[in-house]
This record gives sequence, C-alpha cells and structure tokens, in this order.
Amino acid sequence: MRITLKLIVSLIVVVVFVALISAWFNVRQEKAKLYDEVRSHSALLAESFKESVRHNLETGNNAGLQKLADKFQNQKQLEGVAVYDADGNLISGSSALAPEMLARAPEINALIGAASGADRVYAIGDKKIFLYPLTLTFNETKKARIVLFTNISYIDYDLFKIWKRTLLRLLAQMVLISLVTLLIVRWNLVDPIIQMAEWMKNLRIGDVHGHAPPIKGDIFAPIAKEATTLATNLQAARRAAQNEARLRHKGESLWTPERLKEHIKIKMEGRPLFVVSNREPYMHIKEGKDIRTIIPAGGLVTALDPILKAAGGTWVAHGSGEADFEVTDNKNRIKVPQEEPAYNLRRIPLGKEEEDGYYYGFSNEGIWPLCHIAHIRPIFRREDWKYYYEVNKKFSETVFEEIEGVKEPCVLIQDYHFMLLPGLIKAARPDARVSVFWHIPWPNPETFGICPWQKELIMGLLGADLIGFQTQFYCNNFLDTVDRTIESRIDWEHFSVQKELHTTMVKPFPISVDFQQSGKENKAPAVKPELKSVMKEMGIKADYLGVGVDRIDYTKGMLERVKAVERFLEKYPQYQRKFSFIQLGAPSRTHIPQYHRFLAELHAEVDRVNWKFKAKDWKAIVFVEKHHDRSEITKFYKIADACLVTSLHDGMNLVAKEFVAARDDNSGVLILSRFAGASRELKDALIVNPYDIEQMADAIYYALTMPKTEIEERMGRMRQDLHDNNIYKWAANLIGELVKLRMDDFKLTEV
Ligand code: F6P
Repeated sequence: MRITLKLIVSLIVVVVFVALISAWFNVRQEKAKLYDEVRSHSALLAESFKESVRHNLETGNNAGLQKLADKFQNQKQLEGVAVYDADGNLISGSSALAPEMLARAPEINALIGAASGADRVYAIGDKKIFLYPLTLTFNETKKARIVLFTNISYIDYDLFKIWKRTLLRLLAQMVLISLVTLLIVRWNLVDPIIQMAEWMKNLRIGDVHGHAPPIKGDIFAPIAKEATTLATNLQAARRAAQNEARLRHKGESLWTPERLKEHIKIKMEGRPLFVVSNREPYMHIKEGKDIRTIIPAGGLVTALDPILKAAGGTWVAHGSGEADFEVTDNKNRIKVPQEEPAYNLRRIPLGKEEEDGYYYGFSNEGIWPLCHIAHIRPIFRREDWKYYYEVNKKFSETVFEEIEGVKEPCVLIQDYHFMLLPGLIKAARPDARVSVFWHIPWPNPETFGICPWQKELIMGLLGADLIGFQTQFYCNNFLDTVDRTIESRIDWEHFSVQKELHTTMVKPFPISVDFQQSGKENKAPAVKPELKSVMKEMGIKADYLGVGVDRIDYTKGMLERVKAVERFLEKYPQYQRKFSFIQLGAPSRTHIPQYHRFLAELHAEVDRVNWKFKAKDWKAIVFVEKHHDRSEITKFYKIADACLVTSLHDGMNLVAKEFVAARDDNSGVLILSRFAGASRELKDALIVNPYDIEQMADAIYYALTMPKTEIEERMGRMRQDLHDNNIYKWAANLIGELVKLRMDDFKLTEV
C-alpha cells in the first residue's frame, strides 16, 4: 500500500474509533436524560391524579373515575391512564387506550406487584409505551394501582438523529482528512523528494549550480546540510580532477591540496604531521548562551590551516577561547573544522600568569619589538623569561604525548613563541625531525644582542633540524647572529650550523596563501558585490575605495596610512567626497600598554582626518575595529580599487597575497611596503616606503588613475606568481626538505 494511503487509512481508523466511542457515550447520556424526564413527568402527573382517584374509589363513583381517566388522555405523549385493583383487574381506563394496551396482562401484573415508580417499557405495534405505576390505599386497607401510559417512541427517533449526525460528521471528516493528508504529503514530502532526486541527478551529471539542495524546512534540514557538504566535496573533487587533468595536459606542476596530501603520504611514509603554534586555528567563544567558532586573525592560521586540512595530523596550540575547553574531550582534543573534521586540535590551557609572562610579556613585549624595526623598545623581564621557559616546557610535554609511539615524527614549530621548544624536543626525542618556521623578520646581530637571553634562545632554536625564514635576507641575519652569539661551525655555502653533534639547515621558504580557495572563498558572495551597496551599508557614499586589513599592531604602518590618505585628499582635492578608505582592524594583544596607546592614537588620527574633511554622506576614513570573518574581508578585497599594505616591518604579510588571490577579475592595485617580505615577490605592486607619506599619497593617486590595461597586466602577473607559489608548494618544500635531511650524518663532526 502506498505511504499516503496508509497514512490516510490510519488517520481515518483513529478518527472513526474516537467519533464512535464518543457518539455512543453521547447517546447513552441522552437516553438516560430523556427517560428521567419521562419518569419525573409521569410521577408528577400520577401524584396529581392520586387524590381524585382515591375519592372516587372510596365513594364507588365509577363514572367519575372514568371521566377522570378520560381527562388525562392524549396530552402530549401521554396516551392515557388506567386504574387497577389489587389483583390487577382493570377498574377504569382512558377511552383512548387501546384494549390491547390495557390487557397486556404480564406487564400489568408485574407492575401491580412492584413498588410505586418501578416503571416498565413495552412495545405495542409501532409504539413504545412507558408504564409508570403508582400504588394508592383507599378505605384504609384496600389497594389500587394507577398506571400512566406514555408513548416514548420519540426517544428512539431523537437517538437515531444523534447517530445520523455523528455519521455525517464522520463522513465529512474522512473526506477532509484524506484531502489535507494528500496535500501535506504532496507539498512537504513528495515534491521536495522529487526535486531532491532531480538535484542529485544533476549533481551526478555535473549540472548543478550552487551547493545547497532545493529542499527546505526543519524535517529536511539534516539531509540538506549533509547534501550540501556532499555537493561541495563532489564539486571540489571534480574541480581538482579537472585541474589535475588540465595540468597534466599542459605539463604544469601546480600544487593542490590533493597533490600535497599524496606528497606527504609518500615522503612521510604514512606518518602523521604535527604542528605547534601559540595561536590556535579555531577558537570557541561565548555569545550569550551559545558557543561560536571564530578563526583568529593573522597570517599563521591563514597559511597553515589549509595544509592540515589537506594532509591531516595534529595541531598543538594554546586554547585561548573562553569556551575552548567546553568543547574538547578529556585530553583537550577536538576535531576541526567542525563542519568537515580533517585534523586534530590539541589545546593547551595556560594560567593567567603563564599567559602574561610568556605571551604578552616575553614574546610580545620582548621578542616582537626586538625583531621588528618599528622603533618600539623591547622589554625583557626576568619573570617573563621564567614563564617563557616554563610554557615552552609545558608545550614540549604535550608534544611528547602526541608523538608517543610515532617513529621519526615530523614536528613543525611555528614562530617566536617557541625558541626553546626545538631543543627540548630534541633532547628527549632525538629521532624527531624538527623544523621551526620563523614568520617574522630576523634582526641583525647587534639588535638581537639586546636580548639578555640571546644565547639560550639561539641554543634552543638550534635544536631544530631545519629553520625556515621568509626571505634569504633573514637567513643571513640569523647566521650572522649565530656566528656572533655562540661557538659553532657555520657553513655559508650550504647555509647550515653545526653545533656539537647536531646540524641545523637554514633556508628561506616564503610563505603563501591557498590561492584557489582565497580567490573563491566559498563563503564569499558568488557575484562581485556592488561598491555602492557596500558603501551604503557603511553609511557613506563614495566612488573609489581603498582598503586596509590588519591585526591592530604598531608594526603595520596604520598611522602612516591614515596620514597618507590625508595627504592624498589634500594634494588631489578632486577626490574629496569621492574616495574613502576603509580600515578593517582586528583587535590584538590588547593587554599590552603599547597596543593600548597605539589604538588610542589611531582612533584620534582617524577622527582628526575625518573632521578635517567633514562632509555630508561621506567620510575620508572608516575604521571598523572588530574581528571580521573571511567572507566579510573578501567582500572588501573584491570591490577595492586599491589595497594598502604599508607595514613598517613585516615577515611576509599575507594580506597582500590574499588581496591578489581575491582579485579574479584582474583589477585592483596593491600598494605595498618595501619593508614587508611580500615585496620581494609581488614586484608588480606599487612598492612604497611607509615613512614617506608624500610617496604613499602619490601611490594612491597613481592607483586610481592607472590605465585599466596596466592594472590588469600587473595584477595578472602577480596572480600568476601566487598561482604557482601557493601555500601547498610552501608546505611541500618545507616538509620535503625536512624529511630528506640525513639525520645520521649530523653525528659525524663535533665542534
Ligand atoms: O605575524 C606574526 C604572528 O605571530 C603570526 O604568526 C600570527 O598569525 C600573528 O602574528 C598573530 O599574532 P597573535 O597570535 O599574537 O594574535
């Protein structure tokens, strides 16, 4: 039987059952009520008749008795009245009563013997007669019985009407139930399933646009969610396969997630990958009662998350989100990303003192300003150093737990937070292949020499088998620093350091972005957003747009950028009320006083410039200080005429690369600081000195007036470069280099 029919029949059976039961009770009640009415009416009549009958019996007035009986006939349903003696013989009866009624001996006899009020019902022809008896005493001892004859055929008719009404109502309900069920099933189940089947068919033959299936409503929400993921994966796999085929055809060798996965599988012989960083790739924060996942701002996460997504493995990081440990298991592990788990995130909890000393203090008030030439004095405190050491140790213990049982594990340590970690790992696990990737600049030896613990830090770092920097220049600085700090053998030809029995290779690995993904940014709008409508959302009107996207940090040249916009609007007044600069700024390291001061100064500068050029419906600068997710940022990348990356000093700066990756229309101009590592690769950007405000103002003007063909040529070349040198290639090079090191050789020479 078809499902709809089954549903209808079941519903009808239930409804009929309920309706019949309730009708039956209804009829029973009604019947009892009507009989009660007849009974009490008869009792009243009999009582009113009684005294006159007694009088006539005592006086022997048979004619009077007959007259009385006739008076009580044919009243409503009352057929008549009869009086019987104690033996049941008729004394007198209404003339209207048919003889057969009066002579129904058994019933009458039964009544004569019964008590007063013990009524009886019997049928005569098509009539149903209700007999009500009343006993009376006359002449003190003699008994007589009055019997009232009431026609109660109407009761059956009334009850029949109730049944009839019930059945008619039932019939109407059955028709309605069938109709409504049919329509509900059709609209809510059959139609969506047909559409879904059609969508799946199209998906199979590759004719689907968009990822979401055409089914809605809460019943289908879980299916729709899974189907969306399935479609996304299928389309991504198809694209990857097409891409691979195209590349094979062209003989190109583009690095894709699939290729990296294969590469790592082969190179690492199936062993998992371990990444260690301070910053975690996904943070869980509280929003009212809900827990929300956010992706922290910064190049490290942008670069490494796609690699782990492609290759799997474990990422060990500080769990800094307030709800982080509400979602992890009892080992502080969680699979990420939540929608499509690809790798393990192992979170390490840190106490307030640890975070203050190791992260805010030593790493970000000490090493960070030490490595960046931004003219901010580094602060080194003994207390912070102690925490820096302890937290490095704490991380090493967690790493040991994670790599336990894995032979020759590959551990990729990130950044300046863990300079002691390579040494700590190597001491306990000499078989581990350890690399450090240094995301920020490495200063010259004089500058590094400011640090009171320079020797310990260098020794810790040299525990690594491979140290990667963003540029060759930073490699040189590092080797110079090693040379000046400790006793070791430096091989300038192969760029390596030998210390005791261990060799550390030093190489540049310019980091990059997931070019294809940044271009598409699956959560970003499929069509290019309209400048006008985005400006409207921001509450302004503008024809030209410049954008800056940064973690709010004094190294990013944000103040200089504000001054450059001011100078540009002064020097080229025709752009006033036409050009706006939007600065998206993610709050960062907010507990450090220097960052507080910087933020306050930035707000003051923005206010000053906006006040200077104040106009209705327009603003020179819109500063949005909040954490933006990738799709929001991509929207601004896509509509900006120019993106300003004006770091005073920066290891690489992936905003520059993300902007280029997002411009699949080959338009937009990148204005890039010569002090950002990215300027070594993105030579088609307008390269500026962020300290030269005049030059930056002119660069903005040049960007807005550059001929379209030149914009396209420049952007096209930069895109080609990023296309060829994406994050997968970076990872393949770094991991390839790490696994190819011959560990045994390192024990040959002792310095
Ligand atoms: O650029 C250096 C760096 O440490 C990156 O590696 C990281 O993405 C960024 O700064 C973010 O800093 P933090 O983790 O302190 O927010």
